[in-house]
Amino acid sequence: MSNAGTGLKGVVLDETRIAFIDGDEGKLVYRGYNIHDLAHVATFEEVSYLLLYGDLPTRAELAAFDRRLKAGRPIPEQVIDIIKSLSAANSMDVLRTAVSALVALDENSHAANAELALPVGIRLISQTATIVAAMHRIRNGLEPVAPRPDLSHAANFLYMMFGHEPSAEDAKIIDLDLVLHAEHSSNASTFAARVAAGTAADIGSAIVAAIATLKGPLHGGAAEAVQKTVEEIGDPQKAIDFVEEKIKAGEKVMGFGHRVYKNDDPRGIELKDIARDLGEKRGQGQWFQILQQVEKAMQPYRAKGIYPNVDFYAGAVYSLIGIPDELFVPMFAVGRMPGWVAHVLEQYEDNVLIRPLLDYTGPRHLRYVPIDEREAEAVAYAS
Ligand SMILES: CC(C)(COP(=O)(O)OP(=O)(O)OC[C@H]1O[C@@H](n2cnc3c(N)ncnc32)[C@H](O)[C@@H]1OP(=O)(O)O)[C@@H](O)C(=O)NCCC(=O)NCCS
Repeated sequence: MSNAGTGLKGVVLDETRIAFIDGDEGKLVYRGYNIHDLAHVATFEEVSYLLLYGDLPTRAELAAFDRRLKAGRPIPEQVIDIIKSLSAANSMDVLRTAVSALVALDENSHAANAELALPVGIRLISQTATIVAAMHRIRNGLEPVAPRPDLSHAANFLYMMFGHEPSAEDAKIIDLDLVLHAEHSSNASTFAARVAAGTAADIGSAIVAAIATLKGPLHGGAAEAVQKTVEEIGDPQKAIDFVEEKIKAGEKVMGFGHRVYKNDDPRGIELKDIARDLGEKRGQGQWFQILQQVEKAMQPYRAKGIYPNVDFYAGAVYSLIGIPDELFVPMFAVGRMPGWVAHVLEQYEDNVLIRPLLDYTGPRHLRYVPIDEREAEAVAYAS
């Protein structure tokens, strides 16, 4: 059967034990645990362990895993130099290049089987956060801040970005955001990682493929696009007209719609409450009001299965914490790392080359004409 033009919509690629999504119900489950039960209570470290190993850790297992994550945080000076040399480049280009350099520089990173790739994956979860924080510092003319081993993944990330220990509230919000982004089954970037792993390429290459795929505005880039939309609207009163004009022009409203969810995105529900509360507390409720008005204007499209997705409120949350727009997609990558790693390991465990077909629609029986004859024919035709 041909799937031409469908973007593999509805095609089952393989079996997985990592995550389950019920798009009609708006349900997301990591290794059997509903995301609403994990959010707020399970830390990013605990969820990363769950995704990688398949079970929630005991206290001792979590402590050992946390030690490995912390030991993996530093990045080599050569990678910092690369980030410095690219300080004006697109933030996802910098992240992709820095991760690529990181794995190229580490001869222990070239593993292409589940057992050997696991420690590399654990290191990459930590180092991605270090790269994004270093990028932020360097772009602002500051020196990178070395990681602090006494802080959690989320708190250390904010510490490395801003150079001071974050409030417990900000660290908790970023921890929750990372948990919500940690895994999402065969989304485009994870699919890309599995395709690379399926060729028996090393885990580093598979993660670079995932980062490259995340960059696009139809995938990871949507939160940044939503934030730009909010800034463009500028006033809650103008939101409804703005949306109507977009729809009339046949354009998509960023932060809405999803390939799988045809109902509320459960991750968006969690982030919406945070965006509202944080906006009120920090005296910047205006952004939330604009988002709410956009959501109201999009209400009629729910009948078509177009609901707000995770990116709709994520940008507002990041902005309120002081994370600039250009780091929204890299933030997504920091969160998604455990999911990508888990899928690469799962792919290695029972590997098969992923190689679909394309329906060829071009001509089939053209006769090759040597270049001199082609030119002679062209001259004759023109005269
Ligand atoms: C995510 C997305 C690519 C899913 O795409 P998809 O499954 O291929 O769905 P389609 O693009 O085929 O959309 C189906 C219909 O809904 C409409 N639609 C989908 N998302 C829409 C949006 N954000 N705004 C307005 N209309 C939208 C399409 O125009 C299409 O309408 P039609 O049937 O009249 O042609 C798409 O919804 C989108 O581009 N959203 C905006 C970007 C975004 O927020 N991405 C982050 C995803 S987490």
